[in-house]
Amino acid sequence: MSAAGRSLHAVDAIVEDARVDVLFRQAMGRLASGVVIVTCYVDDRPWGITATACCSISVDPPLLLVSLKSSTVSASAIQRTGRFGVSLLGARALDAAKFASRPGQPKFIDDYCTPCEPEGASATPIVRHAAAHVDCAVNQAHPAADHLLFIGEVHAVLLQSADRPLVYCSQSYHGLDALGEQEQRS
Ligand SMILES: Cc1cc2nc3c(=O)[nH]c(=O)nc-3n(C[C@H](O)[C@H](O)[C@H](O)COP(=O)(O)O)c2cc1C
Repeated sequence: MSAAGRSLHAVDAIVEDARVDVLFRQAMGRLASGVVIVTCYVDDRPWGITATACCSISVDPPLLLVSLKSSTVSASAIQRTGRFGVSLLGARALDAAKFASRPGQPKFIDDYCTPCEPEGASATPIVRHAAAHVDCAVNQAHPAADHLLFIGEVHAVLLQSADRPLVYCSQSYHGLDALGEQEQRS
C-alpha cells in the first residue's frame, strides 16, 4: 500500500489493512459539533435538514458555509430558491433535530417553527428553541464530491432567548455543561 493509503489507527500505529475512509468517519465522529437546522421553503411550507457541517467564513462581509448532500430535497430547494436559513439549536430543540435528520422522510418542520415570526424579520423559517437564526441568500454553490457547499450572504440575524447549545458527538446528542472555574482557564 502507498504511504498515502496508510491509516493511523491508534497513536503511533500504522494499520495497513484499515480503510482510510472508515477511520476518517470514526475520527470525525469524535469532533463535538454544534447542531443546526438548515431551513428553506418547499411548496411554500417550512422544510429543514439537520446539519453539523456549518461554519462562519467571514464577518466583513458576513458569509456562512453549509455543506449538504446534493441528493437532498434541501439542496435542490436551496438551489432553486436561492435562500436558506440556519437555526443554531439549543438543547430544547432536540426533537426538531431528530425530526429533520430522518433520511428519506418528508421534513416539513411547521410544527417546530416559531409561530410568531416578526413580520419580515427572516425570509426563511426559524426553528423554535434556536439560540440564533441566520437568514442567507446563496452567494456561491460549489460541488464537492457528493455534497454541495453553499456560501450564504447573511441578510438578517435573529438572537433568541439563550439556551444551552445542542451538541453532537460520537453518534449521539449532548448538552453542554459549564466547566468549573479552574478548568475554564486557558
Ligand atoms: C447530527 C447530524 C448531523 C448531520 N449533518 C449533516 C450535514 O452537515 N450535511 C448533510 O448533508 N447531512 C447531514 N446529516 C444527515 C441529514 O440530516 C439526513 O441524512 C438528511 O435529513 C437526509 O435527507 P434526505 O431525506 O432529503 O435525503 C446529519 C445528520 C445528523 C443526525
